[in-house]
Amino acid sequence: MFESSVYTKRRKELTGNLSSGIVLLPGNEDSSMNYKANTYHFRQDSSFLYFFGLDRQGLAGVIDIDENRSILFGNDAGIDDIIWEGPRPTIVALGEKAGAEGSGSLNELDDFIEQAIVKGRKIHYLPPYRTEKILRIEKWTGIHHNKVIGQASKELIREVVRLRSVKSPGEIAEIEKAVDIAYEMHTVAMKMAMPGVYEREIAGLIEGLALAHGNPVSFPVILSINGQTLHNHYHGNILKDGRMMVTDAGSETDMHYASDITRSVPVGGTFNSRQKDIYEIVLAALQSSAESIRPGVTYKEVHLESAGVICRGLTEMGLMKGDPQEAVRNGAHALFFPHGLGHMLGLDAHDMEDLGEDMVGYDDEVQRSGQFGLAFLRLGRRLQKGFVLTSEPGIYFIPALIDKWRSEKKFNEFINYEKVESFKDFGGIRIEDDILVTEAGCRVLGKPVPKTIAEIEDTMKQRS
Ligand code: GLY
Ligand code: MN
Ligand code: MN
Repeated sequence: MFESSVYTKRRKELTGNLSSGIVLLPGNEDSSMNYKANTYHFRQDSSFLYFFGLDRQGLAGVIDIDENRSILFGNDAGIDDIIWEGPRPTIVALGEKAGAEGSGSLNELDDFIEQAIVKGRKIHYLPPYRTEKILRIEKWTGIHHNKVIGQASKELIREVVRLRSVKSPGEIAEIEKAVDIAYEMHTVAMKMAMPGVYEREIAGLIEGLALAHGNPVSFPVILSINGQTLHNHYHGNILKDGRMMVTDAGSETDMHYASDITRSVPVGGTFNSRQKDIYEIVLAALQSSAESIRPGVTYKEVHLESAGVICRGLTEMGLMKGDPQEAVRNGAHALFFPHGLGHMLGLDAHDMEDLGEDMVGYDDEVQRSGQFGLAFLRLGRRLQKGFVLTSEPGIYFIPALIDKWRSEKKFNEFINYEKVESFKDFGGIRIEDDILVTEAGCRVLGKPVPKTIAEIEDTMKQRS
């Protein structure tokens, strides 16, 4: 974790902007897979990590806005805990690491909240995403479990989003470490992408690489020759010549900062001409976004510019027709690019998504569109220096979507369905980088993962 002063400062900045009451930040608990003692890998809650930094089960943080105190609650280890799980620091010692007072009993937290409620104090909490936490909040506050998410504190959410959106140099260094691990995962995957290999052989190995660096992947590995399925977690296909392999994968660091990188490579190591044509368009869309990203621009504009690059490229190839600008305005490109350009990145791969996508990615000025494709843009608002985000344009040929739109005669004026039919066996291509918004523009984070056609072909030749 960072120095204790980092957490003290973050909590001070948080409470400086909240009116009154207490902030309740319960950490995560172990979650069982198939019986109680057989648990998933423990993952601490990201907002708890941001304000208290402590990466273990059984903790809850309270920030008293009016009395300007932070208290860490938890139970000190008993002899049974020590026998099964090993010795651990006392809650007072853990509190010190976070710059907070420690209270070695969770019962005291129950009393603390009860007292606050008796006094009519406001209890600010964030929307819980695990059922166990919904039930704990119901028990503490008396709010019916069906209403717990809806009654989360908007004031607190806004402040947490404001703070977590702008990354400090220490956080940026962590994200770069995560990208460097992703560099290794992706270059190894490229070298393995040969005909006859099962997807799972590569997916398993690169997940193991993340683990070998000490931490799990930042989201389940997406690795498939069916890249047209956007979040494809099936890894049972055998790689075949003529298909692209899309790998969307990243790692966490010790402090749980994430990377989220995608590369698309031709099985066998050499792009055919059709793959080259589509790849160059996606790469141009990514490069155009890197030229536009700077403080003050909205990410919705950047998304639409990248969509314009995709439309122009597909029109030049004869897959689309008509005026590309008009096609983007109408959303015709979403047949090929049905998702958003990117999202915030930080302690979560989709940073702060638990706090509400619209609370993170939109504001009073920029609101989410209802148009198919653009509606899936997770980040639309104006960018600020210190934001870290992904840019991840793609072109996909999704047979079911092509058939649906064609039968509906949708956008016949912009789409050359005759030609699109011949690409139904293509799959998809996505390229994704992790990008820091700087004073002057932006910077792609971490060790550059091979990205141009020449770089990818060259890397794939280096297989042992
Ligand atoms: N890895 C999921 C995404 O890129 O959003
Ligand atoms: Mn991704
Ligand atoms: Mn992403």
